[in-house]
Amino acid sequence: MEFLDVVRRRKTTNGPFRPDPVSREHQRLLMEVAGRAPSQLNSQPWRFVIVENRDTIERIARISGESMTEAMSNGSFFERYKPYFRFSAAEMQEKRSGMLFDKLPAALRPFTGQVFTKRGQKLMNAFRVPQTLGEENRRLVAGSPLLLGVMLDRSEYRPGELSSFYSVFSMGAAMENVWLTTAELGMGIQFVSFPMEVPGKWALIEELLRVPAELELMAVYRLGYLPAEAQRPAIDWSSHERKLPSQYVFRDSCDTPELGWDADENPPRPGV
Ligand SMILES: Cc1cc2nc3c(=O)[nH]c(=O)nc-3n(C[C@H](O)[C@H](O)[C@H](O)COP(=O)(O)O)c2cc1C
Repeated sequence: MEFLDVVRRRKTTNGPFRPDPVSREHQRLLMEVAGRAPSQLNSQPWRFVIVENRDTIERIARISGESMTEAMSNGSFFERYKPYFRFSAAEMQEKRSGMLFDKLPAALRPFTGQVFTKRGQKLMNAFRVPQTLGEENRRLVAGSPLLLGVMLDRSEYRPGELSSFYSVFSMGAAMENVWLTTAELGMGIQFVSFPMEVPGKWALIEELLRVPAELELMAVYRLGYLPAEAQRPAIDWSSHERKLPSQYVFRDSCDTPELGWDADENPPRPGV
């Protein structure tokens, strides 16, 4: 694939992967590109744990699903992230950021206007939305052929210090290399992040992965090959929209937004 096509095609995968294992050659390649990322002083603060053991994947899947159910049941999740949730194409078009919930069961659609209210949360709980989503998330994670844990060396990662900022920055560069390469290899990738939302759950994953004291588990991803036809979960979001260049690019000083490029924005993604 041409490099720019890869950048334009890179996406988050919300649906299931094919069950096929990720080949050792592709695993090695993903780790090679991660290791080629830039890092402050060439510190290479990242460490990775590749997980294919079925039992470990299923345990992490259970923790992930339960975390999602818990986080979504108590209201804190929607309260925390509401600035980013959109429920109409018009709102998405206007804000050009965030996530559009464009796939919802018919029974829920009339209630989207209330989702951030106490009544909305009660309705969602009555419809057992958190349980449905949690179970779906468990199945998605359990059905993934590979999980990837990303860790930072604690000697480079001491929150509050500058080195910490640079380590996270470097890890982001390494993961972007991995992410882009999944697009090249016909693979997909998604964060497994709900265990971070619920106190105590992340520690369970660190224990399962036997993360040593000198490392900090920063993220877990699920990866696999993409099916020919993407399948969407029962409740799903899309986030293709991007801000216009004039909303995030300035010329010479931050007083002057770059106005000349908006018309070219969002060229169609090849094949999407
Ligand atoms: C730091 C970071 C955290 C993210 N957390 C999650 C997450 O918890 N769950 C998830 O499905 N996607 C997560 N994403 C993916 C974003 O939702 C996604 O990149 C964004 O909506 C744009 O969609 P795209 O990746 O398909 O272009 C995260 C991405 C980044 C960079």
